[in-house]
Amino acid sequence: MIFVRPIKYIVGLAFALVLLVSLFAGVKEYFSNPPEPLPESEFHKEPKALHLASDGAFGRFDKQQLQRGFQVYKEVCSACHSMNLVAFRNLEALGYSEAEVKAIANQWQTEVPSINPDTGETATRKAIPADHFPSPYPNEMAARAANNNAVPPDLSLITKAREGGAAYVYSLLTGYRNQEGYRNEKGELLLQKFPTAKTPPNLHFNPYFANLNLAMPPPLASDGQVQFADGTRPTVDQMAKDVSAFLVWTAEPNLERRHAAGLAVAIFLLLATILGYLAYRNTWAEAKRAVRVTGPLDPENKAKRRRASDNAGVTR
Ligand code: HEC
Repeated sequence: MIFVRPIKYIVGLAFALVLLVSLFAGVKEYFSNPPEPLPESEFHKEPKALHLASDGAFGRFDKQQLQRGFQVYKEVCSACHSMNLVAFRNLEALGYSEAEVKAIANQWQTEVPSINPDTGETATRKAIPADHFPSPYPNEMAARAANNNAVPPDLSLITKAREGGAAYVYSLLTGYRNQEGYRNEKGELLLQKFPTAKTPPNLHFNPYFANLNLAMPPPLASDGQVQFADGTRPTVDQMAKDVSAFLVWTAEPNLERRHAAGLAVAIFLLLATILGYLAYRNTWAEAKRAVRVTGPLDPENKAKRRRASDNAGVTR
């Protein structure tokens, strides 16, 4: 019986020992036999800097830019990408009138799924302002078939769904490179260091994409692909910036309201702090200065002591 209690400690120590041994073995293995470098880790690039009007705590949307970005989405990206969390009528927030939104929905190149009221069979109809931006493909199979087995993701939330957000989208759109002669920051040639990393046919080399090879062909290939109504020069860089700004709006249309609420709360908290501090000063101002006598110096205690010694006949 005497041995039963210590057994739990012995078992626990044995477990701890095994864990320690395996940890040391793993660490030793890592340093003596380091993992092979991968082309993704050596040649991947972090997103370029992108400054938008909506950045920062006071950021507001640049509506002109959002309209241009919408135009890029409409004329280029919507051929492959849906935005199923954004409705046509939401465009009114960018400054389009109700009539313009109706016309945009009515002329959208992809019709939305519907049902033929006479036969009950599936059909399509023209979009109305209440519809969401449809996918050009009827289903995932069709999307894969048209895109070398990749699915173009829905773009509604893409700037929230990727690290780097709008800067990542902008970098990706402007980041296609010729893989021959591509060097990383250290000046190493990709194909020299990793001859087997050659981009497979039908994929496109892009160092901003996580695994360097993207199924999306460069969507913005030449300046002037889109003609902007406000006269902005449609360079590839400008179109990429504008569509990235637009995708910030689709992912968070109430960003301006959030910023305004945050500012109001910050001001309120600042005022409340000042008021609280002043109230504290006011309440304790007297109390802190007054000197309170206690113990033997308290006049009440002194009187009691005097009375007691008088009663006892002690001479003071
Ligand atoms: C020809 C069809 C096509 C067009 C046009 C197109 N894309 Fe794509 N896009 C794709 C496909 C396919 C993928 C999936 C790529 C993959 O997973 O390799 C993709 C992926 C993406 C991604 C996600 C990349 C990631 O990190 O997963 C973004 C962002 C994107 N596209 C933005 C755009 C924008 C913005 C436009 C318009 C300027 C656009 N695309 C136009 C086909 C297209």
